Amino acid sequence: MSATPAAAVWLSAIVMLTVVGSPRAFVMVEAGVNIEPNPNGEVGLMSSESKYFNCKSDSRGTQELLSWVDNNGKEIVNDPANRIYTTQKKNMVKLELKNPQKEDTGTYKCVSRNKNGQETSWAYFKLVVFNPTTVSGTTNYLKSEGTRFTMDCTATSDRDATVEFTWMFENHDLSQDNKYRIDTVHEKVRDEIRTVSRLEIRNTTKDHDGKYTCLVDTTNRFLSDEKELRINLHVQYKPRFDEKTPKSIWISEEAVQQGGPLSVNISCIVYADPVAKINWKAWNGAPVQTQPHPLPNQNMRTVISDAENMSSLTLHYQSIHELKNPKMSMRHRYTCSAANSQGSASNTFEIKVGRIPDSPQIVHIEYKDGSIVLNLNESHVEPPVDIYRLEISDEQAHLFNKSSSTNPREPNNNTYVIELNLPRGEHKVNLFAHNPVGWSENPYGSYFFTVVSGAPHHLGMAWHTWLLTLGLLTAAQLLMMEGRGMAGRFFMGALIQF
Ligand SMILES: *[C@@H]1O[C@H](CO)[C@@H](O)[C@H](O)[C@H]1NC(C)=O
Ligand SMILES: *[C@@H]1O[C@H](CO)[C@@H](O)[C@H](O)[C@H]1NC(C)=O
Ligand SMILES: *[C@@H]1O[C@H](CO)[C@@H](O)[C@H](O)[C@H]1NC(C)=O
Ligand SMILES: *[C@@H]1O[C@H](CO)[C@@H](O)[C@H](O)[C@H]1NC(C)=O
Ligand SMILES: *[C@@H]1O[C@H](CO)[C@@H](O)[C@H](O)[C@H]1NC(C)=O
Ligand SMILES: *[C@@H]1O[C@H](CO)[C@@H](O)[C@H](O)[C@H]1NC(C)=O
Repeated sequence: MSATPAAAVWLSAIVMLTVVGSPRAFVMVEAGVNIEPNPNGEVGLMSSESKYFNCKSDSRGTQELLSWVDNNGKEIVNDPANRIYTTQKKNMVKLELKNPQKEDTGTYKCVSRNKNGQETSWAYFKLVVFNPTTVSGTTNYLKSEGTRFTMDCTATSDRDATVEFTWMFENHDLSQDNKYRIDTVHEKVRDEIRTVSRLEIRNTTKDHDGKYTCLVDTTNRFLSDEKELRINLHVQYKPRFDEKTPKSIWISEEAVQQGGPLSVNISCIVYADPVAKINWKAWNGAPVQTQPHPLPNQNMRTVISDAENMSSLTLHYQSIHELKNPKMSMRHRYTCSAANSQGSASNTFEIKVGRIPDSPQIVHIEYKDGSIVLNLNESHVEPPVDIYRLEISDEQAHLFNKSSSTNPREPNNNTYVIELNLPRGEHKVNLFAHNPVGWSENPYGSYFFTVVSGAPHHLGMAWHTWLLTLGLLTAAQLLMMEGRGMAGRFFMGALIQF
């Protein structure tokens, strides 16, 4: 029975006292007291933490009196109003450390006394109290694009602890990112250390907008403590237009030839923060406003419809006669200007007349190594063709990009290779061409080709590929296709990379 856990703790208490080096310890151990749980010599606590220790006596039968003595040598009393107090239990005294402060650091002793008040045995531990780390700083920044600034994160920590900073942007560690510079400065303030970590952004862009976290890890031989400061950075920027914003608004020559009323819709989409105010100006700088009835010297009315980040100017021509006149072309320019507190930008749209392309002639078509190899006699048109649509008899349509030529060194090589898994058999194809004016109307002719060997992969695989590549098409292109009566038809698009 001698190898009970309590005995083991008591034994280690002797060892501890030996190590600590008090020669009296050897004298005092015969009527043993021990501390549970075993403090192992030293106990570290954050000042906001709580802990307790029991003092137990081993001597059976004898009338021993147990008590706890504090760091100033005073007996600790049973008063829960104090941060540190004791409670008497059968056979033991409990030391409650509730919220100890820095000044409570010191040696705490459990003492056993006999009837005469003489100390017969004792055990002790050293309590080390640390101030917790507090983190402070500005949590919301509002900055303009192009500015240089720093975010501060200030940690106030115990002198006997080390702090380490980690800066995060969303979930990305910035310490290795050379777009940011991090500086850390320490300064001592009484028994605390103030450490400031500065994250510098040299050239703020919209990409810097988001949530930052300053993580502060405090460690010493007893403790590890993690605190964080969450920072929001909002970057404002002057208006800009999508790179795909067209410079020309194309009208079909056919529509112009037919004469009669015609509506032209010009959309201006703006990226800006804060939201920009959008205005329209005519070729001569005169502001354009909604004009429900044509002005005497004009043959059109104008409607402007505004939405957030967007404005549409619709020109309703009674007669498009003047569009035909090249001398008047200067007049068919409309400038969209967007402005916010950060600045302004403008884009000028020119209304132009162009021709829908003819469908190209297929000079040669074959199916080789899982691809359709297509040689075209291409029609030249202004504005030039940008997309082809290949319709295969099984009702799938495949779009491919005109400008991504087979060989960039041979821009006139009219061979296109379209990777496609097709089942064995004969397939009929129709080919159409598109330019900014619209889609060609009728195919040049129907063509046939034969797939001799089976597709290298299961056909089902190909659908995924088509779906993926469909995502590459711009919404505008899809709209155009719908506009040409494709909506009701079942089709899939593939933008083929050569
Ligand atoms: C800041 O970045 C923008 C966009 O990358 C660039 O146009 C500008 O010249 C840069 N400004 C400075 C001061 O480096
Ligand atoms: C003009 O085009 C825009 C964008 O495509 C659309 O939202 C708007 O309804 C159109 N307006 C008219 C009058 O067609
Ligand atoms: C307009 O732009 C602002 C700023 O970029 C953005 O917060 C807002 O969501 C946009 N509004 C719409 C309707 O797209
Ligand atoms: C290409 O088409 C043009 C016009 O239709 C025609 O004159 C020419 O011979 C064709 N070229 C070939 C190689 O078929
Ligand atoms: C065609 O591909 C080129 C290069 O990949 C791209 O710049 C262009 O925008 C594409 N055109 C269309 C209409 O998708
Ligand atoms: C065009 O390119 C294809 C593929 O690179 C090649 O096989 C063909 O010979 C080229 N045609 C011409 C006329 O250069």
